[in-house]
Amino acid sequence: MIYSIGIDLVQIRRIRAALDRYGDKFAKRILGEKEWEIYLERLDKANFLSGRFAAKEAVMKTLLSYFEHGELYYKSVQILNDIYGMPYVHLEDTDRERIFKKEVKISISHEREIAAAVAIMTGD
Ligand SMILES: CC(C)(COP(=O)(O)OP(=O)(O)OC[C@H]1O[C@@H](n2cnc3c(N)ncnc32)[C@H](O)[C@@H]1OP(=O)(O)O)[C@@H](O)C(=O)NCCC(=O)NCCS
Repeated sequence: MIYSIGIDLVQIRRIRAALDRYGDKFAKRILGEKEWEIYLERLDKANFLSGRFAAKEAVMKTLLSYFEHGELYYKSVQILNDIYGMPYVHLEDTDRERIFKKEVKISISHEREIAAAVAIMTGD
């Protein structure tokens, strides 16, 4: 069953500008521990970070009705990649319990100017 969906678009130049201005500190404020390891390996960091940003916002849109304002953090909604490159959502255990262990699936795309992501919350 599908419970909710979320979508988000990010202009890559805005993320690139923030990275130019604040450096990796900007990325560190947004990325969780495991995402940070992926970020360090990516050559086009603005592209990667834009995709992650869009994905986190899309996931948060699927979660909003289960959380109070201020209870969700960019860092705790991690978007990782499986061995095929397919992205998946890694939530903290406490956050997963809040959504009664439903699952959120994610898809990400990057174009020259825009990164986009769609998320779907599914469960029994
Ligand atoms: C994965 C693929 C679809 C990416 O498409 P693209 O237009 O080059 O790039 P996009 O920006 O739209 O998508 C990139 C994102 O796709 C996602 N992605 C990568 N591999 C994926 C996979 N196997 N399944 C689903 N999503 C995948 C990732 O989130 C990636 O971004 P990230 O690495 O920052 O997380 C493309 O490289 C591809 O088709 N690869 C497989 C080719 C193949 O095996 N074809 C034959 C069978 S159809």
